[in-house]
Amino acid sequence: MIQPNKYLANIASPPPRAHSIKFLSGARSKPGVFKLDSNEAVIPPSPQVLKAIAAFLKEKNNLNWYPDPKADELRTEIARYVHTKPEQILPTNGSEQALEFLTDAYVSEGDEVVVPTPTFSPFNAWPQSRGATIVEVPYDIHSGPTASTIQKKITNKTKMIYLINPYITAYPEIDIEYIVRKNKHALVVVDEAYHEYYGKTSIGLLRRHDNIVITRTFSKTFMLAGLRLGFLVAQKKIIENVAKIIGLYNINVLTHVAGIAALRDAAYTRSYAREVRASTKLIALELPKYGFEVFSTFAGIALFKHARINPRIVQKKLEAHGVFVRYPFFKELPAYLRMNVGNLAFTKELLIKFRNTF
Ligand SMILES: Cc1ncc(COP(=O)(O)O)c(C=O)c1O
Repeated sequence: MIQPNKYLANIASPPPRAHSIKFLSGARSKPGVFKLDSNEAVIPPSPQVLKAIAAFLKEKNNLNWYPDPKADELRTEIARYVHTKPEQILPTNGSEQALEFLTDAYVSEGDEVVVPTPTFSPFNAWPQSRGATIVEVPYDIHSGPTASTIQKKITNKTKMIYLINPYITAYPEIDIEYIVRKNKHALVVVDEAYHEYYGKTSIGLLRRHDNIVITRTFSKTFMLAGLRLGFLVAQKKIIENVAKIIGLYNINVLTHVAGIAALRDAAYTRSYAREVRASTKLIALELPKYGFEVFSTFAGIALFKHARINPRIVQKKLEAHGVFVRYPFFKELPAYLRMNVGNLAFTKELLIKFRNTF
């Protein structure tokens, strides 16, 4: 049998993510299902997005033509949102694809890629599949990784440093600039998938440094996980390099339409993010009443563990009430379950489920 590239043999297949929620055929609308296992928004996108898609579908030549290969309108709208120039933006099919393309464009065999862990673990497969080595920097979730612990793992083989800000913890901005400044030989990738919940960004560093790239997504606070839209923000030269390997039409046309409409109604996103922050506080206040310890993040995610009940049993009990949370997820945090946090009305209903279950 034909063998895949020689590095793939050393990469474990991703664990199955299937659960009992059926994805299509009307099951999405089933009442009483709380899907909190994949960090998605718990409500649909802005009505303006749905309107824009419906209007587009009424146009002639809607799906039979390819999308704009330069994505000019979308890039312009994203650039306005992040206060950069359109040539500093590259839209991708989800931010996963941005991370994958960056690896393709910048990482080669023998390179080292430094990754503070816990991390977004699907990332690790991309550098490994190109023959690079992942160098982990384990951190305690209560104190987080620091610039100096990361710096200790940097060598002259380090080609990329993958930071997520915010995630389980958040980096002070100064730490990121320190890492960028100290390591001119490496590309610092700052994954800001959860930016809107947190508010701070490293995009300003692009004015002073040419070895930093920021990735963002529409999957969380823009509520478009199903349409797959993310983007890279970097200095123009990096965008030009990555653009050499990206397919002509990597973003589908409905995604273009939805992304533009979502950005034009960014107030909807800001209001959702505000509610998620308030819900995060409410969860931290309420779950301890039912025997849980809660670790709140800046990323619209709550980690929680029960004082006495095994996490697998907690998960099963919640599933019996229609609540789907993630377990296991971080090998470094075997005691914790994870769930994404929703808006306030949703959270109040969720807390009733917890009260009835525990
Ligand atoms: C930290 C982080 N980065 C990237 C992604 C991928 O997001 P997207 O849907 O844009 O591919 C996720 C998804 O959950 C994530 O948690």
